[in-house]
Order: sequence, then structure tokens, then C-alpha cells
Amino acid sequence: MAEPAAGAAPSGGPVDLRSDTVTRPTEAMRRAMAQAPVGDDVYGEDPTVNALEAEVAALFGHEAALFTPTGSMANQIALQLLVPPAGELLCDADAHIVTYEMAAAAAYGGISTRTWPAVGAALDVDQIAAMIRPDGYWAVPTRAIAVEQTHNRGGGGVIGLDALRSLRTAADAAGVALHCDGARIWHAHVADGVPLTEYGRLFDTLSVCLSKGLGAPVGSLVIGGADRIDKARYIRKRLGGGMRQVGILAAAGRYALRHHLDRLAADHARAARLAEALTPFGIADAARVRTNVVPLDLGKALLDALALGAAAAERGVLVSVLGPRTARLLTHLDVDDAGIDRAIDVLTTVLRGA
Ligand SMILES: Cc1ncc(COP(=O)(O)O)c(C=O)c1O
Repeated sequence: MAEPAAGAAPSGGPVDLRSDTVTRPTEAMRRAMAQAPVGDDVYGEDPTVNALEAEVAALFGHEAALFTPTGSMANQIALQLLVPPAGELLCDADAHIVTYEMAAAAAYGGISTRTWPAVGAALDVDQIAAMIRPDGYWAVPTRAIAVEQTHNRGGGGVIGLDALRSLRTAADAAGVALHCDGARIWHAHVADGVPLTEYGRLFDTLSVCLSKGLGAPVGSLVIGGADRIDKARYIRKRLGGGMRQVGILAAAGRYALRHHLDRLAADHARAARLAEALTPFGIADAARVRTNVVPLDLGKALLDALALGAAAAERGVLVSVLGPRTARLLTHLDVDDAGIDRAIDVLTTVLRGA
């Protein structure tokens, strides 16, 4: 049977633009998984996991990395590495860490979190620096700052290198650690051309996901110095994340890094095309779309997001509804140019009838 090319939409199904997590492994990825040498990873004996960890650490210029089942676990391990119980984490009000991780930092790490207002990727470094609380017994001391690259709820925005460098300077001046939730850092690297090692240099720890834009079915890594990653292994076990012959999943990640990283540019171009088609309706802003996320703001057009989502779904296009007037589209490996044509056709038809 002929193998579908990477980027081909599964034939006959809906065009699923809800998230880049919906991708299915390609035949070639499945073959890589089936052929992977494996061992017991809790004993450190899975050669495919060990290879993936070494490769990802090297990609970011760090000493070590640890494979985790999810990005949420990778984030939480990193936070526990950087912030002791009763210490404080600063992040933005829209960060995945405080929106979707079920208060894990507080529940498992005893970590107190304070947020700056949601501004997506438009960091105000002075504002963040002014929030840092010094060490002392009378107030919760800030121990780490986390940023998200690219910013998911911030419309896939990319934090510029200058802002990150200023943040690093501010963090160093205060003796505070920096974490990057880099679930989609691959997209920032492709969009801005910033080397992954440059991102690696700026952060004490990073979490990266293989199961979003890169198209692996499962898997994330936490990245950092060797001592930290030794401790990370312990924290992962405590969280129930010690896995056994998991090389079959690490193989999917290794395959994804080799074959699906450069093609993210195609996802970005498709997102731009979607945004351009929807901008005249006043619900998207093509000028703001940098990566694979197209945020839809239906407020000005007074459109109901649920109704738009339902009408599009009836016609075979799936949209993520985030609120009464907000929705979002994400491009990914399983949506090709024909899928984007179909999505534009359906969405513009629905919008004309609204
Ligand atoms: C920015 C960001 N960080 C972390 C995660 C967590 O990933 P997981 O769903 O694998 O826990 C996600 C998931 O979509 C995300 O968008």
C-alpha cells in the first residue's frame, strides 16, 4: 500500500484544526517505533530513550534531558527543580502552567505562583523584574520565572530574543532561575530562525513536546544541567512517570525530530493563508499570525463561537471553541493544502451566512 506523505490529511475525515495534538503517527513513524531497540528505562537501560535524551540535550546545548510522558509532567518536574516548597514562581496569567496543569505546582511542589497580566508573547521585562520578591523570612521569595515559547493562548506568538536576553539579565541580577515551557519552541525556532542552542543558553530548564507540532503520539522532555536531570529522574518516579520499554515512544520522537521539524514552516504558511482569508471578516488578524495558531476573536463581528464551531463541524471542519467569543485554529501535520482550502471554503461560507 502506498504510504501517505507527511502532511497529508487522513482521507475522508474532517479537517481537524482544533489542535496540533490530534496528529496520528505516519506509517514511517510507526515502522520506526516497531523496530526500536528497547530496555527497562527505570533501570536506564532503554537505548532508544537514552539516545533521544542525549540528542535533545545536545540540540539545546545542555548536559542532559529526561523523557516524560507529557509536557505537563516535564513542566512540573522543572518547577520542582527550580522552586523549593514555599518558594514562588512568576509566570503570565495565560500560561499553560496556571491554566491547564490543575494546580500541580501547588499540590505537588508546595509552590506559590504569582502571575503577570496575560500579554501573550509581548513580555514587559521591567514589569516582571519589579515583581521579583527578595529572599527573606517575612514574604514568599521568588525563585523562578517561567515563560512560554511559543505562547499557546497568546495566539502562537514568539517571544523575541532581545526580550528573553533582558529577562535573563534581570533574573541573574535577582538570583532567580528561568524556565521555558517550550512545548512549541520548535515553531519559534523555525519562525524566527533562532538556533535551539541559543534558547537553551538562556534557560536553566526547558520542557519540550514531541507530541504537538512534531507529530509524535506521546512524549516530552525536561532539559537542563546533569545534576538537575539526575534529580528530575527521582521526581519523575515520584510522580508515577517511571516508564519501562518506552523506546517505542522515544523512537517516534527521534523520527519526528529528523523528519518533521523543518516542515513546520509549511504549517506556518498554511496558518497565514487561513488568517488572510478570515481577516476581511474582522475575526482574525493575519498580521499577528507568526506560527501555526490562528486565534479568532469574534467579538467585533458579534458572532457566537459555539454556533460558528457547530456550523463548521457540520460541514466537516473542526474548530476549537475557547470562550463565548473566542475560538482558535491550529495547523499541523495532518492538514495539507487541500484541507486548508476546504477549511477556508467552509468558514467563509458560514461567515457570509452569519
Ligand atoms: C504550551 C503548552 N505547554 C504544555 C503543554 C502540556 O502538554 P501535555 O498535554 O503533553 O501535558 C501544552 C499542551 O497543549 C501546551 O500547549
